[in-house]
Amino acid sequence: MNIELSDKLKSFPPFLFEELYRKERAERAKGRDIISLAVGDPDLPTDRRIVAEALREIKKGPNHRYPNTKGNERLRKAAAAWHKRRHGLTFHPNDEVSILIGSKEGIAHLPFAVMNPGDYCLIPDPTYPTYRTGAILSGGRIHDVPLLEKNGFLPDLGRIPKKVTERAKLFFLNYPNNPTGAGADLHFYKDLVKWAKKNEVVIAQDAAYCDIYFGEPAPSILQAPGARDVAVEFYSSSKTYCMAGWRIGWVVGNGPLVRALNQLKENIDSGPFNAIQNAVAYGLDNHEKIVPPIRERFKRRAEEFCAALHSTGWKFPDPQGSCFVWARPPCACSSLEAVYFMLEQASMLTAPGSGFGKYGEGFVRFSLTEPDARLREAARRIKALDWTKLK
Ligand SMILES: Cc1ncc(COP(=O)(O)O)c(C=O)c1O
Repeated sequence: MNIELSDKLKSFPPFLFEELYRKERAERAKGRDIISLAVGDPDLPTDRRIVAEALREIKKGPNHRYPNTKGNERLRKAAAAWHKRRHGLTFHPNDEVSILIGSKEGIAHLPFAVMNPGDYCLIPDPTYPTYRTGAILSGGRIHDVPLLEKNGFLPDLGRIPKKVTERAKLFFLNYPNNPTGAGADLHFYKDLVKWAKKNEVVIAQDAAYCDIYFGEPAPSILQAPGARDVAVEFYSSSKTYCMAGWRIGWVVGNGPLVRALNQLKENIDSGPFNAIQNAVAYGLDNHEKIVPPIRERFKRRAEEFCAALHSTGWKFPDPQGSCFVWARPPCACSSLEAVYFMLEQASMLTAPGSGFGKYGEGFVRFSLTEPDARLREAARRIKALDWTKLK
């Protein structure tokens, strides 16, 4: 039988990195030692105290039963207590916090709770691709909002066309930003909240990298006056505690939106394993002991790696946070040409900026989620490259 797949599925943009991964596999098969800096999957193991808590919790029979879709009370309370310590904000653990099976899951589902066919979803360009998923599947229209270097990779709200804002329902953003490494300050969030209220647009700020900052602590959009009326913020244990494989995130903020997402999810999933939720709760309760060394590690990696790139003519503002360096190569070439050149000449896999959107063209994204020694070797290989060979 010839199974005809859905039009919606077919409408997903092609995966730009597929050809690149195929080439990487072919190079590895030839026995070449490829350093992969293409994806942001933290190499550091989860803190042993969190792992020990998970092991204790796995042995408890009640944890083997169905979890609660919105997450268990221990984790919701731990998340609320952490927000109080970190941002001075009080969230009701029952109504304003909901646990997710990784933040990606909540991000992909939120548009179903908010958007109707024909509504616009505003998505930054370059972007983390999952913001498109729910917008496409819910029949929405996408409007790409450029993140330009001259604006510090922040959106220029005044340039979003009126006819788009009139039909816009949802605006995804993420700071500290993947892929550009840019930060957003509270001043920006205050303006954004005013704009969102005026235009009646829901803001979904994705704070997956909120703890990988290199200067002042990254603020929360929910610290901006009135933000709770229009915004939710997504959080992730993946980068903060190096727990990407454990799949826990959470959403906080506007109660009706948090509850709407949870109501939707009650029809889809049954929440993550309670033992793992409790391990993340342990991480949140002990955040101030566990997280600073992780942040320091990424900061040192970023400093060393940026220094190597700068010394060989790459042009870019240093990242203010995240696990990424977003830089223009020292050649008059496209992102993809630069990436293929580095794969062939330096046995390094990196991500072409054009894969994150048309405004990513001209950039390359390096992920700092490989061990220190591998990153130093990558920096050495980059320094040895002769870009005049790329003609
Ligand atoms: C900006 C951003 N948001 C969300 C996620 C997804 O994180 P999680 O592991 O919590 O699903 C990622 C993962 O790379 C990301 O880069």
